[in-house]
Amino acid sequence: MSITAVRGTFLDFVDDPWRHPGREEESARFFADGLLVLDDGIIVAFGDHSDVAADYPDAEVTELRDRIIVPGFIDGHIHVPQTRVLGAYGEQLLPWLQKWVFPEELRYADRDYAREGTRRFFDYLLASGTTTCQAFSSSSPVATEEFFEEAARRKMRVISGLTGIDRNAPEEFLNTPEEFYADSTALIERYHGVGRNLYAITPRFAFGASDELLEACKRLKDEHPELWVHTHISENPSEIRGVLALHDDCDDYLGVYEKFGLVGPRFTGGHAVWLNDDEMRRLSEAGASVTFCPVSNLFLGSGLFRLGKATDPAQRLRMTFGTDMGGGNRFSMLNVLEDAYKVGMLNNTLLDGSVDPRQQDLAEAERNKLSVYRAFWSITLGGAEGLYLDDRIGNFEVGKEADFVALDWKAGPPALAWHQSLIADGGAPATLDDAANLLFGIMMVGDERSVDETWVLGERAYTKG
Ligand code: GUN
Ligand code: ZN
Repeated sequence: MSITAVRGTFLDFVDDPWRHPGREEESARFFADGLLVLDDGIIVAFGDHSDVAADYPDAEVTELRDRIIVPGFIDGHIHVPQTRVLGAYGEQLLPWLQKWVFPEELRYADRDYAREGTRRFFDYLLASGTTTCQAFSSSSPVATEEFFEEAARRKMRVISGLTGIDRNAPEEFLNTPEEFYADSTALIERYHGVGRNLYAITPRFAFGASDELLEACKRLKDEHPELWVHTHISENPSEIRGVLALHDDCDDYLGVYEKFGLVGPRFTGGHAVWLNDDEMRRLSEAGASVTFCPVSNLFLGSGLFRLGKATDPAQRLRMTFGTDMGGGNRFSMLNVLEDAYKVGMLNNTLLDGSVDPRQQDLAEAERNKLSVYRAFWSITLGGAEGLYLDDRIGNFEVGKEADFVALDWKAGPPALAWHQSLIADGGAPATLDDAANLLFGIMMVGDERSVDETWVLGERAYTKG
C-alpha cells in the first residue's frame, strides 16, 4: 500500500445549495488546515489535519500552501474536435456548424491530426482545472479512439462516444445508421469501462438524425442500458423549427428523443435553452439531465437558459454546467460560472417585474442568482450528480477518486490580487466565509490563470508555468 497525502486548505460540497436557501453555506465543507489521504489515487481519509494525521504517520505528505483546494471541475458538454475553431466569427448555430465546425471536424478522420488535436484538448482542459468531461467526438471512429486512448494515458474519468449524424451536413461528414451502429458497437466493446473511460451513445442532434439513426441509438441503448446518452436539445430557434418540421409526429423537441426511448437516467441534453415547462417536467420525472452552457449560448446568440426554472423544487432538473467549447469560446469552467452569473442577472431583469409587473416571479429570480456556493457545487458535486458519477467523483468523500484543483486566489488578471486583498487581507482564508468570498472573486474576476495545479487520481497532472 502506498499512502500519500495532501495538506492544505480544502473546500468541497456535501449537499445541493439550492436546497438550503438563505443557508447555502450548510452545503459546503471547509478545513483551513486539512489533510486528504490517498491510497493509489482513492481517498481513504479526509478532515482536519489535527484529526487525521496521527492515523497516517508514514504517509508521504505534499503541502500546498496559500491555495484553496477544490474538487476537479466537471464539464458536462464539450466538443473535442472544435479545439482549433473556438471563437469563430459571425454566425448563429446552424450556419456556424456549416461554415466552421463540420470542415474542421472532418480533419479528425486523419489519425495524426486527431492525435494532435486531442492531445492539445486535454492539455487545455487540465490547465483550466477540468478533470472530467462528457465530450462529443466526431463522426469518424478515429476521433473517438484517439480520445479514449489519450484520456486513458492521463487516467482521467471521461465520457464520450462516436457522434452520429446522417443529414443536414456535407455528404462526406455523414455516417449511415448502419455504420453508426456497427462502429459504436465496436467502440463500446473496446473502451467502455476500460480504465476510467465511459461510453455515451451520441446522436449529434435531432436536426441531424433520421428516424433510422435514432432507431440505431435505441437499439444500442436496449443492448447496453448501462450506457450514457449525450446529445443537444432546444439550443436555437431555427434548429427547433427544423426539428419539428423533420419529426412532424412530435409535439416538441424532447418528444423526438422520447419516441426512441433515449430519455432517462444518464441522458444529457446540451443547452436546453428553449424548453417549455412541460419538457422540463418530463425531463425531471425521467431523471434525465441538461447542460447549462452560458458561454456558448451567449457567443452563438442562442438565448438565456432558465436556471431558476430548472432549479424549481417542484420539478427539479439534474444539471451539469458546460463550456460547449468551441461553441463556447473558452475552455475554463470559471468563465462558465462568470457567464452563468450574468445570464441569471439578465433573466432577473424580467423576473423582478421592473419591465412588466405581470412577468414578476421573485422565487424563480432568487433561484437564478448564482451564489458562489451554487456555482462551485454546480461544477463539482452537482456536475457529478448530473452525470450520475457522484458515487465516484465530485467531492472528497472517502472511497472517491482523488481529482482536485489547487486555486491561487491572487493569480489571474492584474486587477485580481488587490481586489482579493479586500477579503482575506492577502492571507490564507481562515473561515468558510473568507474562502467563499475569495472563490467568488476568482469566478468573477479571475480565469484559468487562477488554476495553479490540477491533480488526477492522486497525481499532479498540470502545474502552471
Ligand atoms: N448542435 C449540433 N452540433 C452542435 C455543435 O457542435 N455545437 C453546438 N453548440 N450545438 C450543436
Ligand atoms: Zn454542443
